Amino acid sequence: MGIRQLLVALLSSLVALTVASASNAAESRQESFGTMPDGRPVTVITLVNRNKFQVRVISLGATLQSVLVPDRNGKFADIVLGYSDLKGYLGNSSYFGATVGRYANRIAKGRFTLDGMTYQLPINNGVNSLHGGAVGFGQVLWTVDDMKSGQEASVTLRYVSPDGDQGYPGQLTATATYSLNEQNELSLDYRATTDKPTIINMSNHAYWNLAGEDSGRSILGLLLTMPADAYTPVDDTQIPTGEIRSVTGTPFDFRQPKAIGRDIRGRDNQVLIGRGYDHNWVIARQPAANLRLVARVEDPISGRVLEMSSTQPGLQFYSGNFLDGSIVGKNGHVYRQSDGLALEPQLFPDTPNRPEFGSARLDPGKTYESHIIYRFTTKSKPEASP
Ligand code: GLA
Repeated sequence: MGIRQLLVALLSSLVALTVASASNAAESRQESFGTMPDGRPVTVITLVNRNKFQVRVISLGATLQSVLVPDRNGKFADIVLGYSDLKGYLGNSSYFGATVGRYANRIAKGRFTLDGMTYQLPINNGVNSLHGGAVGFGQVLWTVDDMKSGQEASVTLRYVSPDGDQGYPGQLTATATYSLNEQNELSLDYRATTDKPTIINMSNHAYWNLAGEDSGRSILGLLLTMPADAYTPVDDTQIPTGEIRSVTGTPFDFRQPKAIGRDIRGRDNQVLIGRGYDHNWVIARQPAANLRLVARVEDPISGRVLEMSSTQPGLQFYSGNFLDGSIVGKNGHVYRQSDGLALEPQLFPDTPNRPEFGSARLDPGKTYESHIIYRFTTKSKPEASP
């Protein structure tokens, strides 16, 4: 072989190697997901890793549309509730997978005061404001800022919320970055900056069902663990009363793995108000720079396990109480009560009106950050006892 042939052979094997490793790496790709009623295009971004875990995010609402992970036998299922097409997400009043903000959860009577000024937000949940108002972050079109493939697959979406949007002060620039790595972790990073003092509390409202969203099994048999000694009870409009109540001896004690359905029919006044669980658990009293484990969900039948970490002090656990059989979800089947559970890391509800809960304030020159990691694993079947 001459020197030229050798070089060509070397070069072509180098190219082959590069192509092989590229196709083995985590990948992101973007496709159309339809058009908004005003004609703007909506896209879906797919993130896939080497283990074939797959996450889809749509630009409407920076929404987590699907998450495909395997069970203990390698069988994949989509474990988040949602819709197959854009039409469903245009009227997503259950917030399936949506990014919620500017203020996730409830603000009493939609009112708060900042630097002596009182602001009024839209009332969209009884007498209160919920998840940022009538047109919150889950209902607006985000732009795709950046996509990456390689060590991990990621997408960053951006939304610029104008000064006065839904009654909130300041022009707020928010980003949501979803990344899927080869350790089967999906991380979600929220950031925001403002040009005037404002308030902020962003979260994600995915409804999980580790059995698979189309399994026909509810979440009541899943085992939930939350390392929280206390929760914040609510009044009958679901606004925290201000009390930090111990979970000891109540249906709210999930410090050891417990089937979600075990105490959900217990005669507890708070369970009655929420029609099940729809409360904020106290993970800590302050946000943290480092992530801490906030919840673990296990499906004993499929073996799928979800471990969630977050930097936020509160965790809203909602057991899908208002799903009433009127929603036709993905692949044309109907979602009923407790077909999914939401775990929303966030500040405590109504913090802007409760200084003892902390602060939701964001000033110009500062960056708001909230980080979540969803880690997917499986647990093997316990050995049958002899
Ligand atoms: C949040 C609320 C619930 C309900 C859902 C959406 O989790 O806490 O009360 O409104 O959103 O249906």
